[in-house]
Amino acid sequence: MKNLQYNFNQKCAVVTGGAAGIGHRITETFLQNGATVVIWDYSTEALQQAKSDFKAFEGRLHVAQVDVTKRESIQQAVSALPGPIDILINNAGITRDKSFAKLTDADWDAVIQTNLTGLYNVTKGLFEKFNPQSAQKRIINISSVVGLYGNFGQTNYAAAKAGVIGMTKTLAKELGRKGFTVNAVAPGFIKTAMTNAMPKEVLEQMASKVPVARLGETDDIANACLFLSSAEAGYINGTTISVDGGIVL
Ligand SMILES: NC(=O)c1ccc[n+]([C@@H]2O[C@H](COP(=O)([O-])OP(=O)(O)OC[C@H]3O[C@@H](n4cnc5c(N)ncnc54)[C@H](O)[C@@H]3O)[C@@H](O)[C@H]2O)c1
Repeated sequence: MKNLQYNFNQKCAVVTGGAAGIGHRITETFLQNGATVVIWDYSTEALQQAKSDFKAFEGRLHVAQVDVTKRESIQQAVSALPGPIDILINNAGITRDKSFAKLTDADWDAVIQTNLTGLYNVTKGLFEKFNPQSAQKRIINISSVVGLYGNFGQTNYAAAKAGVIGMTKTLAKELGRKGFTVNAVAPGFIKTAMTNAMPKEVLEQMASKVPVARLGETDDIANACLFLSSAEAGYINGTTISVDGGIVL
């Protein structure tokens, strides 16, 4: 897929969970468009892999091992930033899917702490680090179609992802005057390493339920993030862009 082209030279983006999956593609897309990117991810293995994948962008790629559920870990990484930031993509997320009857307190806590409190921790930690000179400050929160419509077996995940949308709208109202836009992206079913390992027939069956007759690509999400980060998207604030092929229509 051809990516959108923007000039993000001199812009710095922090991408949480940027070492794998959707975040990996977001990182690559921003690097390709001239940005400096700081990946915050808790997987040392994935960070090593990302460093090797993005060797060509060495001078503009920074990585730090950060667990978004741990505020001390965020504070350390904040003090190691290469400079002020312009863009924050809150992408790190996990699932612990079970029907409500089987859901444990630990499943609930893990998903809320990562997918909702994690966004608060990171945004709070980075808030003062945004470039005060920039009138193009951007926060993009990765929610999910499940946060808008719910899903069987995902009480914890749906609650966290709906919470992300509430947080997005409130920050958009509070920070608009300070040169920020704050928006959410709600992906549908996106092909990642995990889904690539699923049987072809299962994937085909899933794709057949999507009006555009395919599963989403990580590029679809990266392009939405790139556009929302651009100067041209400066009047889009507090919204949730569904990138789901129309699956819930
Ligand atoms: N894949 C999909 O179909 C889909 C659909 C809707 C929404 N999403 C959302 O998109 C985002 C990315 O999903 P993905 O499919 O790429 O997942 P993934 O598991 O492939 O990648 C997630 C990344 O986040 C990192 N991470 C997880 N917990 C962390 C923590 N506590 N601290 C720091 N890093 C952490 C992981 O190490 C990994 O690199 C998530 O927020 C997810 O909920 C994904």
